[in-house]
Amino acid sequence: MLDVDKIRSDFPILGRKINGKKLVYFDNAATSQKPLQVINAISDFYKEHNANIHRGVHTLSQEASNMYDEGRENIAKFFGAEENEIIFTSNMTESLNLVVYSWGLDNLKEGDEVIISGMEHHSNIVPWHFLAEERRIKLKQIGLAEDYTFPIEELEEAISPKTKVVSVTHFSNVLGAVNPVKEIGKIAKDNGCIFVVDGAQSAPHMKIDVKDINCDFFTATAHKMLGPTGMGILYGRYDILENMRPFMGGGGMIAEVTLESSAYAKPPERFEAGTPNIAGVVGFSAAVDYLRSVGMENIEEHEREIVRFCLKEFENMGGIDMYGPSDVRQRGALFSFNVKGMNPHDVAMLLDEEGIAVRSGHHCALPLMKRLCVNGTVRASMYLYNTKDEAKTLFEALRAITA
Ligand code: ALA
Repeated sequence: MLDVDKIRSDFPILGRKINGKKLVYFDNAATSQKPLQVINAISDFYKEHNANIHRGVHTLSQEASNMYDEGRENIAKFFGAEENEIIFTSNMTESLNLVVYSWGLDNLKEGDEVIISGMEHHSNIVPWHFLAEERRIKLKQIGLAEDYTFPIEELEEAISPKTKVVSVTHFSNVLGAVNPVKEIGKIAKDNGCIFVVDGAQSAPHMKIDVKDINCDFFTATAHKMLGPTGMGILYGRYDILENMRPFMGGGGMIAEVTLESSAYAKPPERFEAGTPNIAGVVGFSAAVDYLRSVGMENIEEHEREIVRFCLKEFENMGGIDMYGPSDVRQRGALFSFNVKGMNPHDVAMLLDEEGIAVRSGHHCALPLMKRLCVNGTVRASMYLYNTKDEAKTLFEALRAITA
């Protein structure tokens, strides 16, 4: 069981009042709040240890280097990966772009196909468009099942010898649907494809073991999982990373440089050109320590209770369209909806007056909005520090709006 009062006491921002009301922070899918443990780790780093890494023999540089290297070890363990399989990036978007530029440009050719799901964020669409322009690959998108889940049969039908990559989100940032990535991955692998998983929204909420998922690439971002912004990871299978070229060149990623040519360092350094986000790694490492101490299973169980409550409320409420699975086993604590006849931004502003923070708009998923026949939605996304009482506040406010 999770002690939500104790957890909340670690997040000073949750004590804030917004428009004279207690803050109800339901915009966790955009970015989570940060506990004191993360804030202090970053602050201590700058106060006590700040120096550049792997470039100095002096004590501070050694300390900073050790913190960075230990951070990688800790974060790799959290994802069930080996240390040399975790590349630090600035966010999930950069991670996906790294796959496209460093792996895709060299491995895909005209006529090859990449399959994505019907619920992707732009960061798993736009980078593939670059390859469509550069290499004339074809980007194929499968649809949505009627219950807003991943249509496995459609993938089975769409996949062909031309398909070289299957790239899907693990947890939809719009529908809250949790996709069966092991099953999807098996189909991808049985057909000889590279399997890419966007874990930006799943990694904060459930235990991730990249080896168990059996993916080739997995992306995540620290700021949605209690860590700092500007910090992400790309997991890549080592034998694949070893054969990839870097897409950025500079300091820190070379084995040898002459005026004529460069030899690259081994992964992961090969893909980390320039001074990295050292404090970001320290903060991210503190964030995974925090999540581990609470326990991912406890977080899942806590959020499942909130999901059950919200599903019942949505079912009983008139005047609202909710877009997402209605089975608790197929979804997480993220709800997109519209109040009939109202613009989602207007609804979000009325909720803000009540102290409730939600996101509104297209959620960087325009093809999905088109599929849902809407211009946008209101989205409430919960996390480990949220409570059923806060969800009650949301539904009371919605009842007042729809009255
Ligand atoms: N990708 C983030 C979201 O869905 C920013 O809000």
